[in-house]
Amino acid sequence: METLLLTEKQLEIASKLITDGEVVGIPTETVYGLGADASNENAVRKIFSAKGRPADNPLIVHLADFSQAVEYTSYIPELAWKLAEKFMPGALTIVLPKNDRIPAVTSGGLDTVGIRVPSHPVMHRLIEISGRPISAPSANKSGYPSPTTAQHVMRDMNGIIPAVIDGGECQYGVESTVIAIENEDTIRILRPGCITKEMLMTVTGNVIVDKAVLKGLENGEKASSPGMKYKHYSPSADIVMVESDLKSFTEYVGKHYGDGVYALIFDGDKQNFPYRHMTYGADSLQQAQQIFRRLRELDDIHAEKVYVRSPDTDGVGLAVYNRLIRACGFEVIRL
Ligand code: TXA
Ligand code: MG
Repeated sequence: METLLLTEKQLEIASKLITDGEVVGIPTETVYGLGADASNENAVRKIFSAKGRPADNPLIVHLADFSQAVEYTSYIPELAWKLAEKFMPGALTIVLPKNDRIPAVTSGGLDTVGIRVPSHPVMHRLIEISGRPISAPSANKSGYPSPTTAQHVMRDMNGIIPAVIDGGECQYGVESTVIAIENEDTIRILRPGCITKEMLMTVTGNVIVDKAVLKGLENGEKASSPGMKYKHYSPSADIVMVESDLKSFTEYVGKHYGDGVYALIFDGDKQNFPYRHMTYGADSLQQAQQIFRRLRELDDIHAEKVYVRSPDTDGVGLAVYNRLIRACGFEVIRL
């Protein structure tokens, strides 16, 4: 099967594929998703098989408006409504108790479901036109960096899914912030994103960052979110994060330099950096936008070992750090 590359004007074709139980690559404001009708078990199974995703890793469900969440959940705390009012449509996913209109395949067997209301006009319109809740994980092969362009999706999914809609480059570049609500007034961040801890704190003072956001799970430790268990965002190259100032970083790369070695540095580091490198932005927002693209590009040029400058962890930086420590399998060198 040749995968069709659709334009944003061909939403009717994409919508028909969704209502027919097929899987479509869809642009969102965060990353591209692999979308299918969340209420159709067979369609959802096709997502898992296209990605090679473990069956116990749940899919989030995309709706056109948060008010539709009452149809798919058994209870919505007051705090969720407040968050939705402030941050939806947008890059936020709220985990809520599900009802039986969400099949167990979609929720990975959990009794909860992540609800997201995307702001991207293509994803938003597609939910409206098809009239279906759309479950969509990131459109990468399981374990590989998430796609931020239609070409990335084509590279991973060509011949595997019937169509991808080309909506250009994603605005944010990292996936949505995933949160759970505890005890009515406490937010637990399961996956950081562009809706930051600081932004969430404007709604409630009680915001906890789950400890798996910043470090790996210990042996036998239970994950608050199944996605935390799995290797993630990893290109073929061996990625190593280096926490240090530019001077020590440069010396370190010099000492370990050789064929296939690259550095991934900040825009401002470029001036006198003497080794093979790519840059990933000047501030946290740009780093978020560029990180997955760079990890893919490093594979394209056959990088074998990549030393990455460690990003700030404030604001959106926490999301960048979270993706990078997973990409490097938690291998961090502190100088
Ligand atoms: O921005 C996004 O969220 C993108 C776009 C396409 O919308 N989607 C996305 O989906 O990143 P996915 O499946 O690649 O990541 C969803 C994450 C996974 O780590 C999963 O384990 C977690 O959210 N998750 C989903 N449902 C959950 C639940 N009920 N409880 C806890 N974690 C959940
Ligand atoms: Mg993903």
